[in-house]
Amino acid sequence: MTIKEQLEQIVSDVKERLISIKSKVDLMNEKANVLGKKGPFAQIMANMRNLSIEEKKEIGQITNVAKQELETAIQDKLNELNEEEINKRLLEETVDVTMPGMKLSLGTIHPLNQTIMDLEDLFISMGYEVADGPEIETDEYCFEKLNLPKGHPARDMQDTFYIDTVRLLRSQTSPVQARTMELKNGQPIKIVCPGKVYRRDQDDATHSHQFMQFEGLVLGHNISMADLKGALSEIAKKMFGQDRKIRLRPSFFPFTEPSVEVDVSCMRCNNQGCPTCKGTGWIEVLGAGMVNNNVLRMSGYDPDKIQGFAFGVGVERVAMLKYGIDDIRNFYTNDIRFIRKFKEVK
Ligand code: PHE
Repeated sequence: MTIKEQLEQIVSDVKERLISIKSKVDLMNEKANVLGKKGPFAQIMANMRNLSIEEKKEIGQITNVAKQELETAIQDKLNELNEEEINKRLLEETVDVTMPGMKLSLGTIHPLNQTIMDLEDLFISMGYEVADGPEIETDEYCFEKLNLPKGHPARDMQDTFYIDTVRLLRSQTSPVQARTMELKNGQPIKIVCPGKVYRRDQDDATHSHQFMQFEGLVLGHNISMADLKGALSEIAKKMFGQDRKIRLRPSFFPFTEPSVEVDVSCMRCNNQGCPTCKGTGWIEVLGAGMVNNNVLRMSGYDPDKIQGFAFGVGVERVAMLKYGIDDIRNFYTNDIRFIRKFKEVK
């Protein structure tokens, strides 16, 4: 066979094989076999060493023509395969708009957020503003500025998670009081601050290492304990029903003086005594008191000119009473059946 005939044979063999190739991988293999270092073209070129100049010229030319013909054929095949691939994907990814859609199940607002929103609405309607503060607090704002110096025994009840010696996860929302006072710079204040707090507590039916508080602070001229009692009575009625009465018991908080524990007449039995109120007819819901003079002074307020009261309520406690939930962990374990139940209640 002459070289010309050999070349014609190679070209027609390759073209023959190209017809049946179905994948790009096979095509690339074919290309490497024919045009690569060990392929027939490389072979022919290598043998040219022994030919005369004229022969080299002639053979070189027809070899290049054959090679180019194959390169074009392979490129055409590649274009063809690419096009097929696109068409196939277009076909596979067609959307059938007549198919029934996926059912999206609609969630609901978490009962704790709902409780906060309800409380906010109530307080905004009474002229309060909603204030906010960081959950990662400093010892200074969480304790010292609230009249709880280092080593104060009342810190025990509020042991929390420490990030370092200065920063901690706030154990109460009260630091927002100090922060707001510094911002308002001696001016009257009427705020509520809802938010998450943390304590080093063992989780059980009524304790959680993370829970929420809703705090209030009112500072102004001539504000007395009578104003506190009036406000608390109003709040209790709006939160738990018009028939509710309140009862104040002496208590202690370092940042209020005097301090009170606030009981509300039981909403289940209307003060008669039942399992919810443990037979007493009263349920403890709030801590409150007149803002301690030291706290006022530390945040730049003059107790002779401005006084006021503060109160703090546990959001979980309110939600548990309102919706008859008996285990605080239900709020946090994300059992869909609990939320679903709540959705029905609402
Ligand atoms: N911060 C107090 C606590 O967590 C609650 C409280 C707030 C008491 C405001 C009085 C006034 O125990």
